[in-house]
Amino acid sequence: MLLRRRLEALRCSRSADGASSPSKRCSSLPRKFSARREGAPQLQTRRAEASNTSAAASDSSPPTSTSAVAPPPPPPPPQHLPATYRRLVARVPSPSFRSGARVEELPLLPPDSLLGEGQVLVRVAVAGVNGGCETFRVRAEPGTPFAKEGSSPASPSSSSASPSSSSASLSSSSSSPSSSPDPLVVPLGAEGAGTVVAVGPGVRPSQLAVGDRVTMNGGAAFAEFVVAGARGCFRVPESSASSPPSSSSSSSSPSLSPAAAVALSLSGLTAAVALHATAKVRRGETVLVTAAAGGTGHLAVQLAALAGCRVVAVAGGERKARRLRRELSRLDPANEAGHAVVDYKSEEASRDLSGAISGALASSSGGQGGRSEGGGGGRGGGGKGEGFAVGGGIDVCYEGVGGAVRNAVLHNLNAGARVLCVGYMGSYPHTENYRSRREGGGGGSGEEEGAGAAAAEAAPAPATETVFVSGPFDAEPRGRAALPLEPDLFWNRRVVSSLPGDRTIFGDVWSGAAGDPRVLARLRRDLFAAALRGEIVPWIDGEGEGEGEGGNEDDRRSDAPSFSGLEAASDAVERLLSGSSMGKVVLRVSEGGAW
Ligand SMILES: NC(=O)c1ccc[n+]([C@@H]2O[C@H](COP(=O)([O-])OP(=O)(O)OC[C@H]3O[C@@H](n4cnc5c(N)ncnc54)[C@H](OP(=O)(O)O)[C@@H]3O)[C@@H](O)[C@H]2O)c1
Repeated sequence: MLLRRRLEALRCSRSADGASSPSKRCSSLPRKFSARREGAPQLQTRRAEASNTSAAASDSSPPTSTSAVAPPPPPPPPQHLPATYRRLVARVPSPSFRSGARVEELPLLPPDSLLGEGQVLVRVAVAGVNGGCETFRVRAEPGTPFAKEGSSPASPSSSSASPSSSSASLSSSSSSPSSSPDPLVVPLGAEGAGTVVAVGPGVRPSQLAVGDRVTMNGGAAFAEFVVAGARGCFRVPESSASSPPSSSSSSSSPSLSPAAAVALSLSGLTAAVALHATAKVRRGETVLVTAAAGGTGHLAVQLAALAGCRVVAVAGGERKARRLRRELSRLDPANEAGHAVVDYKSEEASRDLSGAISGALASSSGGQGGRSEGGGGGRGGGGKGEGFAVGGGIDVCYEGVGGAVRNAVLHNLNAGARVLCVGYMGSYPHTENYRSRREGGGGGSGEEEGAGAAAAEAAPAPATETVFVSGPFDAEPRGRAALPLEPDLFWNRRVVSSLPGDRTIFGDVWSGAAGDPRVLARLRRDLFAAALRGEIVPWIDGEGEGEGEGGNEDDRRSDAPSFSGLEAASDAVERLLSGSSMGKVVLRVSEGGAW
């Protein structure tokens, strides 16, 4: 049960309740959202009782062997804290993040009166931007805290969000009037990285100490300071000294930047859990990743390649495709695995995305156009190198777009395939603009595109949609299947295993870690260790384009803005929702976004 809560806290979108305090109000949240209330790092309205954090198991795990061998650092000097701090919240449902998010300045009480048992105070350096998740919360979409309070999803006319004087702050309950209930305040910011500046009672030095660099997942990272449960923070490993670099490593870095740490903390861990714990990818399998140049997609691509899989990366635009090719060739210079990149905005793919994916699968399997051996449930990829069996289709799909893109994938599945529905970005209500631009520009795939868009907009909504599931080359079982609509599939964590050919669709990509807390701990440790060794390279939007061989002038001239200060959060969210970002979009909260 505890682990389930911890997983819920990690699920970006699903932990979108944004609870601002462990109050009675929150206790009526549905079970799937309750984790945020119970354990995510949160801004507190009053001194908390015993820590009830729900962070992942690894949060309380012992230090890695890397940190164990290092001599203990000298105790840091006392921290000088400001009298006030600023944070970003929503107070009324609003149609967009920009119209609902408000910066508030509040008193910051001294830590000894602020921190409860098991809590720490973190100065946030960098916050990760989850445009989809954050906007769900501001809009009061079903399941989010505003919706639980009885507010409907915001329409354009309900944009009267205005900041009211705050009673919720790091200023303790003594400053809050107790005669009337607090207005609901939804803190924003699903993930952050920062430095511990104070520890509360009951926090063991082996757990966390002042000066530790941590990541935290929760709902309040768009703030200069956050009160978090110590068990909800993950100490970022400092060095890869004890981990020898692997042959695929191009470089190893002595420590991670806060932006890199934040990218790994939720986007990376989601990919690691989905691929390794839920889908249980095997060497030689073919893994297709959609939104492959995005915040979580680029990490899924790297993890799959490192696991010895053939990767087919699907992304929109030549700029993203070029960066993906470069990344894959860093990991596999001779392309032994037969990796391929599909630009769905290219002329061919915009006519027929399913066909373009089939083509990529065929060409990267040496053009054989089908499985000539290996059968038996779709095992074995189509790569050219040793260890890659001949095969045609997709074994595992990490899919965050939905709609037409998802349907094109469903036409290319090997028997036994696992489809991981990490989200459905293309149909989120707040990405309509990008969707219509894409469709208007001929970016869809005909019939499939229409089906995806129509599914999201049909009224009244049918309970299911019919999809066609097949393999790419007529070799595998095929047929129609009824699927829950995307929101139902995702928010209600459906697992659909009734598809022809023993194929499965997971609406909950975290489910594979639900049974064993050690799984999450191990995956997180492995992920950060791989990044420290330089095997996994988190991309930060606006940084690093054109690095390495193959970068051209266009790549080097990144026009991506960088975002600093809480006032820039709306720009950062819109950057992600625009579809033009590459890698993880981050907001630098502290000066320069330094630790
Ligand atoms: N379940 C979880 O725990 C979890 C955690 C993190 C993220 N997610 C989900 O993973 C997916 C990716 O999230 P992310 O935060 O990493 O974002 P992202 O991939 O960095 O950015 C979104 C990308 O989605 C693609 N896209 C397709 N249709 C779009 C549309 N209509 N509007 C905007 N973008 C569209 C665009 O790339 P292309 O044009 O190249 O396709 C865009 O760059 C989302 O569905 C998100 O909700 C889930």
